[in-house]
Amino acid sequence: MLRYFVVFYLFFGEFYARGMWLTPPGPKYPPTKGEVWPKPQIEVKGKTYYVLPSQFKFKIMDQTCDILTNAIARYSYIIVGNKIGPKARHTEPVSGLRPITNTDAFYKGYLNELEITLTSPCEELPHFEMDESYNLTVSSSSKLISSSIWGALRGLETFAQLFYISDDHNDVRVNETMISDFPRYKHRGLLLDTSRHFITLRNILKTLDAMAMNKMNVFHWHIVDDQSFPYQSERFPELSERGAYDPTMIYTKDDIERVIEYARNRGIRVIPEFDVPGHTASWGNAYPGILTECYENGRPIGLGPIDPTKNMTYKILRDLFKEVQNLFPDKYFHVGGDEVDLECWESNPDLINYMLANNLIATDLHALFMRNVIPLLANNTTPVVWQEVYDEGVTLSKDTLIQVWKYDWIIEMITVLMTGHRVLFSSSWYLSALDSEWTDYYAADPRQMVYDVIDDKTLLPGIVGGEACMWGEMVDNRNVINRVWPRASAVAEILWSYQDDMKHYDSRRLRVPREAYNRIEEHACRMIRRGIDAQPPSGPGFCVV
Ligand SMILES: *[C@@H]1O[C@H](CO)[C@@H](O)[C@H](O)[C@H]1NC(C)=O
Ligand SMILES: *[C@@H]1O[C@H](CO)[C@@H](O)[C@H](O)[C@H]1NC(C)=O
Ligand SMILES: *[C@@H]1O[C@H](CO)[C@@H](O)[C@H](O)[C@H]1NC(C)=O
Ligand SMILES: *[C@@H]1O[C@H](CO)[C@@H](O)[C@H](O)[C@H]1NC(C)=O
Repeated sequence: MLRYFVVFYLFFGEFYARGMWLTPPGPKYPPTKGEVWPKPQIEVKGKTYYVLPSQFKFKIMDQTCDILTNAIARYSYIIVGNKIGPKARHTEPVSGLRPITNTDAFYKGYLNELEITLTSPCEELPHFEMDESYNLTVSSSSKLISSSIWGALRGLETFAQLFYISDDHNDVRVNETMISDFPRYKHRGLLLDTSRHFITLRNILKTLDAMAMNKMNVFHWHIVDDQSFPYQSERFPELSERGAYDPTMIYTKDDIERVIEYARNRGIRVIPEFDVPGHTASWGNAYPGILTECYENGRPIGLGPIDPTKNMTYKILRDLFKEVQNLFPDKYFHVGGDEVDLECWESNPDLINYMLANNLIATDLHALFMRNVIPLLANNTTPVVWQEVYDEGVTLSKDTLIQVWKYDWIIEMITVLMTGHRVLFSSSWYLSALDSEWTDYYAADPRQMVYDVIDDKTLLPGIVGGEACMWGEMVDNRNVINRVWPRASAVAEILWSYQDDMKHYDSRRLRVPREAYNRIEEHACRMIRRGIDAQPPSGPGFCVV
């Protein structure tokens, strides 16, 4: 009897709690039609529309280069190759030249071509200062204008997102539109950790595709860590031979060149991180001598962070960094510097003697290490470090980018900015908090948070951007794509679109706009159609693919 009661209670209790009596049928948030993510800065749409014919063409009017022709090939496939929406139920292809009845007053004919005017020669490589602005008009004569190849890439993505399928599934349509667009922050990144779980090249390339769909421009490759060392070094092959999880779980030079080239074609920079002196256990499989022996009760208990007092440490790092920097063309290089096990350093008899002899404490050792390591980087490098390096008082060049990731981030950002350094913000954007939703990430803007506390607008440009961080403990090759997308899309939109009209707001100002719930549904379906298995953003719904 009790059993029946429990079953009854579980069933109806649940039923009642979810308010199912009140739930209407259909998706929770119906997707929009042809709305762009991240939202353009200025966008005017009309009710008149054009239909996409199967012989649609891009037409290059001025400068061109391999990046542009490659992009046109990709977007031709997406737009004409039926990646816009579900296949028509009719036998003709969706974009077929079916005669359109002219009874619809808003129908303006076919959109036969898009003229692309790139007014300056292409740059070879994406970089921190790159110009990503563009203007796009969809009308009886449709035009994309940009003075940089990077802006042209962003504009092509926007153009592809404007199309939608008519309700009868017969046509691909695009409304009359005028867009003038540019990013708010220069550095819009995604950190991917490929050490805690190995992520295949295929999924890294997919991640870059998804980043381009979200106008993100920095792939922060946290390539090695304590658990495994998948980077295959030519100079130090033992590092991955002994430090990778498995001989198949490595990134060769060819793999890395492929990632960089794929990213370059999408206007995405690739910044490698070799996190030192902590997070280096996997280095010790090949080079135990560079790590510190940690002690407990006078007995060695295992290896901890890199030993900052050994000459061999710096010889290896110098040669390794030189090799890595020859491979990765970006001027920025991340040397980590977070979560150093200072207690291990304080337990080691040699380091105790060293500290006594030189009148140092453990944080001074950390500072000493970073002071020795940063000059090992190539001369024109801009170093990126986790906030601990700044917090522990290492003297850093003014251009050093400080990545803020801990609690009390507002006061940390203000302190960093007041000392003339630049901030990269991540604290609120840990995708590895798997129960956080896209709306949680959407409710944080670093410049706004700082401006709410201090009155000084001149400090704000020092916050150059941010990164969504996907640490790899609980994601592997099978779930990484859908755990990142579309949650990282929220970060992408804050960094690209959020209005820069700084006033003091209360935090409600950062609540998600109502229309974004519908727009992200369309965007998630769009990602799925283009091969990115995004998870449902907000609840019940469907995508026709
Ligand atoms: C696009 O055009 C359609 C058809 O005229 C219209 O119903 C819709 O409201 C337009 N969309 C926008 C955002 O104006
Ligand atoms: C885009 O349009 C705006 C406003 O009309 C103009 O100021 C800007 O120079 C244009 N940008 C390009 C790249 O043509
Ligand atoms: C390390 O290098 C310094 C400076 O070149 C030198 O004075 C010192 O003797 C070296 N230590 C060892 C253990 O080789
Ligand atoms: C940087 O330049 C200085 C002075 O020209 C030189 O001594 C040093 O070796 C260079 N460092 C690297 C890593 O190339």
